[in-house]
Amino acid sequence: MAFLVLLAARLFMLTAQAVVRVVGEPGTTTTAGFLSIDCGLDGSGYRDAITGIDYVPDGPYVDAGENHVVAAEYRDVYRKRYGTLQSFPPGSGKRNCYSLPTVAGAKYLVRMETLYGNYDGRNSSSSSMEEYMFDLYLGADYWETVEVGWNVAYEAVFVAWAAWTPACLVDTDQGTPFVSVVELRPLPAGLYPTVTPGLSMNLQRRSGMGASKSFTRFPYDEYDRFWWPMPEDYPHWANLSTEMTIQPDPSFAEPLSILQTAVSATGNDMVLTTTGLGSPRYKTTYSFMGFIHFADFQNAQLRQFDIYFNGEKQGPSYTSSFLVASCIYNPTAYKAVNRTYNIILVATTKSVLPPMINAIEIYNIIPNSNPITFSDDCKSSTLYFPMIFFKIILVSLLYMHGA
Ligand SMILES: *[C@@H]1O[C@H](CO)[C@@H](O)[C@H](O)[C@H]1NC(C)=O
Ligand SMILES: *[C@@H]1O[C@H](CO)[C@@H](O)[C@H](O)[C@H]1NC(C)=O
Ligand SMILES: *[C@@H]1O[C@H](CO)[C@@H](O)[C@H](O)[C@H]1NC(C)=O
Repeated sequence: MAFLVLLAARLFMLTAQAVVRVVGEPGTTTTAGFLSIDCGLDGSGYRDAITGIDYVPDGPYVDAGENHVVAAEYRDVYRKRYGTLQSFPPGSGKRNCYSLPTVAGAKYLVRMETLYGNYDGRNSSSSSMEEYMFDLYLGADYWETVEVGWNVAYEAVFVAWAAWTPACLVDTDQGTPFVSVVELRPLPAGLYPTVTPGLSMNLQRRSGMGASKSFTRFPYDEYDRFWWPMPEDYPHWANLSTEMTIQPDPSFAEPLSILQTAVSATGNDMVLTTTGLGSPRYKTTYSFMGFIHFADFQNAQLRQFDIYFNGEKQGPSYTSSFLVASCIYNPTAYKAVNRTYNIILVATTKSVLPPMINAIEIYNIIPNSNPITFSDDCKSSTLYFPMIFFKIILVSLLYMHGA
């Protein structure tokens, strides 16, 4: 006898409010090497009081565009960096890029944030916003489609191929591209070992599991990754937490506060499944990579499980380590078969405790075009990627035990 609980939650329902709260334990932190551009900022740079990150105006990094401010009702609500933006109306051309200074061969995280805030007054009335979108490109490579009003932060991890990296906005005739914040963070070469020259990853999901510690970034994450809380409330999962110090995985440097909470399934014997659904229009060539972060809070009883990504077992059975994190990931990407990915944790027969999971990251591989053939030519007719519905479905399968 088995029963199945299906819970669906919309991913990245990122509100302006979620972006402003930061909670956690600060690590050893420095903003050295951070480039943080407050787009459309008129005047001089400033330091954000909460994160300590220094923001600079975008003048030196972009050629065209118009400075705008968000509508009055948002000005006091948003953090300062979301109060202004740079827009690229038709006169500025189809493709506009921020030229970010990079070191060829070095690894980076790049993030673009698009908080609309009714800057153009178009949303005071209307339905015209429904299909407002445009594309982001990392150099010549399609990175992601911005869906205005739905997602705000777009992140990629890549190895720079030149002394500058263009982070571009491409007009696909579905609305004027704009950007509020552009951020570049250097990463140590050993972080995210799957990212190599020519293989960049686009973030689909990064979340800490368990009782929410709210949104987390720098200084709690020394590399300023964004960690969102678990998307929804899952009644058949138990929240676990500890105040003890946990050693992060050296290849992922997870923030302590993210490792200190987790979920495990309830019941005696169980399977945790995470399934993501890309849009029907999602490019079929897309490949996903999953990274699951584990660290146990006890060492009295055995917790051992098998990990499957899209039905494929990842390595030997995993035995969780007490207060030491490790990240399990698929070293080669798997194709988005019917646009789903699927992560299953199955307790082994020896295991006393059910599987637990502290954090999840899901990326898709950014399809690589040869950077040498990069040109400014507009190819917007072939760059049409409307609505990407990216949903996460968390499934908990609970088997009645020992009957
Ligand atoms: C437009 O306004 C409506 C109602 O205030 C809001 O729900 C929606 O998210 C807004 N759209 C955008 C793109 O900001
Ligand atoms: C676990 O934590 C989440 C997020 O804070 C919360 O919504 C949920 O109700 C908690 N679940 C239980 C069983 O306490
Ligand atoms: C997607 O494909 C997989 C593998 O072929 C299959 O197991 C799964 O049921 C399919 N899911 C949907 C929603 O069609």
